[in-house]
Order: sequence, then C-alpha cells, then structure tokens
Amino acid sequence: MICSAQIVFHLENLIVIKLGGSVITDKKSMPPRVNLKSLRRIAKEIAVCGAPLLIVLGGGAHGHQAAHKHGFGNPNTPPDRLLLGIPDIRRNMSQLASRVEEELSQQGVLGAIFSPFNFVTLHDGFIHNFPTEIIEQTLNAGISVIIHGDVCIDMKKAASILSGDTIAVFLAEKFQAKSVFIGTNVDGVLTENPEINPDAKHIPLIDKTNKDQILALTGPSSSIDVTGGMAKKISELLDLANHKIDVVIFNLLIPNRLTNLFLGKPIICTRISLN
Ligand code: IPE
Repeated sequence: MICSAQIVFHLENLIVIKLGGSVITDKKSMPPRVNLKSLRRIAKEIAVCGAPLLIVLGGGAHGHQAAHKHGFGNPNTPPDRLLLGIPDIRRNMSQLASRVEEELSQQGVLGAIFSPFNFVTLHDGFIHNFPTEIIEQTLNAGISVIIHGDVCIDMKKAASILSGDTIAVFLAEKFQAKSVFIGTNVDGVLTENPEINPDAKHIPLIDKTNKDQILALTGPSSSIDVTGGMAKKISELLDLANHKIDVVIFNLLIPNRLTNLFLGKPIICTRISLN
C-alpha cells in the first residue's frame, strides 16, 4: 500500500480523456499509421492540464483493422480464429500506446501505459474482472494513466474487444471522476452521420427530454468499426451522466478545444446532463 504522505492527487478531481482512434491514427490507412501531427498537438494540450489524467486510447487504424481482419465484430467467427488475432491486435495497440507515451513524455507529461489484456477479462463482451487498485495508486502518485482499447480473454467467446469508450465509462464510474471528455473527429453528436449527410445537425445537449430520440437517430460509424460506433458510445455515456459526472463529446481534431475544456471555457461540443 502507498503511504498517505506520498499521495499527491485526489481522485474526485480526476478527468478522464478518451483520445478517439480516428484522431490519433489515420483510421483508413493500411497498414495503420499514427496521426503524428494531431498527436503532437494533443500532447501539448494535455500538458496544459498539469494534473494526472486518465488517458484512454481508442483503437483507430491500429485496433479496428486487425480486429476486423480476424473476425471480431462478426458473431459467427469461430473462437480459434479470434484467438489467432490476439498477437496482431496487441502488437498494434502496444505500438500506438508507446507512441502516445513518448509524445506525452516529450511535453513533460509523466505517464504509464496499462494494457488491459494483461489484467482484464471479459464475459460475452462485457467486463468480467477489471482490477483497478494499481491504476488508482498510479494516479494518486501523480502519474497519468495511459490505457488503451484492447483485445481481452473472454470467458464465453475466447476473445473479445474491449473498447476505449467502455474503459473510460467503467473507470470514470469506479473512481467517480469529475469529468469525462470524449475526443472524436466530429463536433459531438449529430442528427446523422456527417460523412453520409453533410447537412447533419449538431446537438449541443442531451438530456432527459431528447435522449431516446437521439439514440434512435445515431448509428454505427462508417469506417471499419468493430465496437459499435456513436449509438453505443452515447448509451454508455448516458450511464455516467446518471452518476452526475460531467460528460462532454467534442472534436479533438480542432486545436485548442481540449485546452479550453480544461480551462472551463465554452466550446462547440455535446454535453450529456440528466440532472
Ligand atoms: C477499439 O477501441 C479497440 C480495438 C479495436 C482494439 P474504440 O472502439 O474505443 O476505438 P475508436 O476510438 O473507435 O477508434
């Protein structure tokens, strides 16, 4: 156990940030490529925060392509084939996480990588066991946690994908975080997929009055996405808003939006509030 004198951070101030895979990687590039320009700028913005953060990485090109290739997302894929995909997905995600850690370190952000495959198990795609003590102690020690979407052993299906969104929601709830900032490649939730209809309208607030209607409108994202796209994201985030955690979905491709969120300044985004 860490002694109380070493604790430099209190979890009630915790901010969870999800770096969407479509922002930190070139989601359509094959083989997968990190979007270095974007990542470098984000690392600089993260450095503004100054407090330890829980940084969750999406899979983007690194996760989704390999997962799709090995049959994840298709209920008919035999377990043996899923298991064969583990090394590919793990290698890609480890490379992505290392790159993120390196860029953060260059900006003076002290961070440690946690790979869910090493300590999380799933059951039928849902979290079965997710020990969090070491994550908590790392944050308490003033070190940011870099955790990423991953493939994990699944007690029912041999192996399943654990998405960054699910990790962000689980840990934010577990630690009763102050805020959850979900960085995506769009301005928040839109009435339609903007890649299909450029006239899609932005929804600034999801609350009790419009949540069901919005869930019905949003669908899966258009590039290869094995973890459910926007509709799944929103329904997971609605759970958090129920716990009075400030939830924001915003465009992380646009410079300074993350900085302004840290500074409490208004930005174009979708807030989820069920109070
Ligand atoms: C996917 O995580 C993880 C893997 C496919 C290994 P996410 O579903 O959170 O990734 P993005 O942000 O949509 O790319």
